[in-house]
Amino acid sequence: MSVLIKNGRVVTPSEDFTGDIFAEGEVISLIGNNLNVNADTVIDATGKLVMPGGIDPHVHLDMPFMGTFSSDNYETGTAAALHGGTTMVIDFVLQTQGKSLFSALDEWRGRSDGNAHCDYSFHMAVTDFNENTKKEIRPMVLNEGITSFKTFMAYKGALMIDDRQMIGLMKEVKENNAMVTVHATNGDMIDYLIAEHRTLGKLSPLYHYLSQPEITEAEAAGRFVDMAFHTGVDSYIVHLTCEGALNQVRRAALRDQKVHVETCIQYLLLDASLYENESEGAKWVMSPPLRQKKDQRALWGGIEQGIVEVVATDHCPFLWEQKLMGKEDFSKIPNGHPAIENRMELLFSEGVAKGRMSVNKFVEVTSTNPAKIFGMFPKKGSLGIGSDADIVIIDPEARHTISAKTHHMNVDYSAYEGWEVTGKVTTVLSRGKIAVNDGVLTVPKGHGNFVKRSVS
Ligand code: URP
Ligand code: ZN
Ligand code: ZN
Repeated sequence: MSVLIKNGRVVTPSEDFTGDIFAEGEVISLIGNNLNVNADTVIDATGKLVMPGGIDPHVHLDMPFMGTFSSDNYETGTAAALHGGTTMVIDFVLQTQGKSLFSALDEWRGRSDGNAHCDYSFHMAVTDFNENTKKEIRPMVLNEGITSFKTFMAYKGALMIDDRQMIGLMKEVKENNAMVTVHATNGDMIDYLIAEHRTLGKLSPLYHYLSQPEITEAEAAGRFVDMAFHTGVDSYIVHLTCEGALNQVRRAALRDQKVHVETCIQYLLLDASLYENESEGAKWVMSPPLRQKKDQRALWGGIEQGIVEVVATDHCPFLWEQKLMGKEDFSKIPNGHPAIENRMELLFSEGVAKGRMSVNKFVEVTSTNPAKIFGMFPKKGSLGIGSDADIVIIDPEARHTISAKTHHMNVDYSAYEGWEVTGKVTTVLSRGKIAVNDGVLTVPKGHGNFVKRSVS
């Protein structure tokens, strides 16, 4: 099986030229001008952008959470990812407190094995760090290729660990040259504010937002950054939303400490005014919550400055019926929103088409940086010879409208309903196979492989 993509505008973080790419089997084998090769399939990409397939390093598929499961499973979630130009996702395995990391991994494999349309990997969320968990870190890294360990400084009573556990985990992860990632918000403060609002009968979605003010994120980000500095572990903050937290990363940079930062598409595009809509605000109930316009400006600036290196989704969809679990009480609304299918086109439209970022920066934050940070480059996130032929072709002029009526995610609303976007994914290759062509999915479930990652 071979595919020749002809006359496209080939874009990587450092290049932008018109040329051809030839994929043979699963990998890219030739790049050049007017390639004279025979191919099983030839794609004319004249006028289109040809880029490394998107990598979304923050998704929650089929995840047990807040009394229910996220509504996209591996089959529907990875199909939707491909439709939107994302060719690989990294999901989170959640340890159950009191149980082992490996039993959680077995559980996640039970749901994912043989079901994914696109490639995927796992982060391991450590929710109970103890002497037994400690012994599981090394085999997780060396044998399973799971090299990033997620921590929650919030969701008290379910997922949160305390600082003692955090330091212990960081030391063990550092010993193994792996990385600690964090949901950095102050769980105790949030817990207090939720209880206070409930006692006062303040129960609408707006109080979800008011229970997690910016200071709860800035404080936790600063604490995490300091603990990472003390232990020297490689560190990454997931779904950073606000100026205060970003400034903690800037503070770390003053002492030459590197902290990787991810934001998500929703924090760049949506703001907290959506919570004023009492009947529909639950659609945007996620943690951390949407912030203010000044935070959006800070995040776009952070991307430009290279402090924010990744734009992910934190895709964690729930059907409207599931969101209604919190109809009478914001604290019972399952947290999360759907975006796995929309990230690439929204960022292209709002970022590249509106002149806020270059096409090279777009490739960096959607693909190459996550591949590098999470130990998959240049197999993933690259258009180099020998790299997996995970390729997205975008028509930069095509306009379309986002709607739940036409999306492929298993969720009955869109957080971006009616948004008009410029730039459309037309063709997607996954390891050399045409996976999506003009809106039609052409790879079966099971095509997606688990990707083992490595530490440097
Ligand atoms: O609201 C969110 N973000 N739901 C998913 C879990 C998490 O915190 O990432
Ligand atoms: Zn989180
Ligand atoms: Zn998440």
